Amino acid sequence: MKGKVIVVTGTPGTGKTSLCRYIASKNKGWVHLDLNRFAAEVNAIIGYDNSLETSIVHMGILKRALLKHVSNSVGVHLLIDGHYAAEVSPVKHVDYCLVLRCRPDVLWRRLRSVRRYSEDKARRNVESEITDYCYLMAKLHLKRKRIVQLDTTGISVGKTYIRFMECYRKGFKCRGDIVDWVDFLLKNPGKMGFLFR
Ligand SMILES: Nc1ncnc2c1ncn2[C@@H]1O[C@H](COP(=O)(O)OP(=O)(O)O)[C@@H](O)[C@H]1O
Ligand SMILES: [Mg+2]
Repeated sequence: MKGKVIVVTGTPGTGKTSLCRYIASKNKGWVHLDLNRFAAEVNAIIGYDNSLETSIVHMGILKRALLKHVSNSVGVHLLIDGHYAAEVSPVKHVDYCLVLRCRPDVLWRRLRSVRRYSEDKARRNVESEITDYCYLMAKLHLKRKRIVQLDTTGISVGKTYIRFMECYRKGFKCRGDIVDWVDFLLKNPGKMGFLFR
């Protein structure tokens, strides 16, 4: 089998890890690579940024280790899961890119209540979601690849999985979802409360 390499990106909390685990549990030959874990395993974590409340990753070390890993992953479908996966994955090996999305007010609740992020950290991430940051990075780094966005707002992991597989079977020749959170917030100003806390 000629394996595929699929970049799974999106703002933290959009459901990358939940979806990748689900895909790997349902399909033989699919491998989930969580970049947070991988970065630690290959000693690419070089510190902690207290103000941003996040680990500092050495991109060079991570990219080199990932290139080696991907080159050696023959005959499997590899899901590279991380919010910066589009930036560090070896472009020539990548087949497709999935960008998971989540409506800002729902993402805020996931990050605050489920992930227990601080207000500042949750706000920074929600702002990235509103400004399409991960989608933009995918477009910049993986310009010639098929990039599809799926909105996970109010949808179960199982349903997202079904939509992903439909798309995968079509070789990512599917429309996916077009999101415009600025437009959503303009039409639903009451949902913006989290931004002004
Ligand atoms: N459709 C969905 N797909 C994936 N996760 C979802 C979905 N709906 C709700 N969730 C929840 O959102 C959270 C996403 O967490 P996680 O998968 O760790 O995200 P990420 O890896 O992108 O940071 C989990 O608590 C998960 O149960
Ligand atoms: Mg994750």
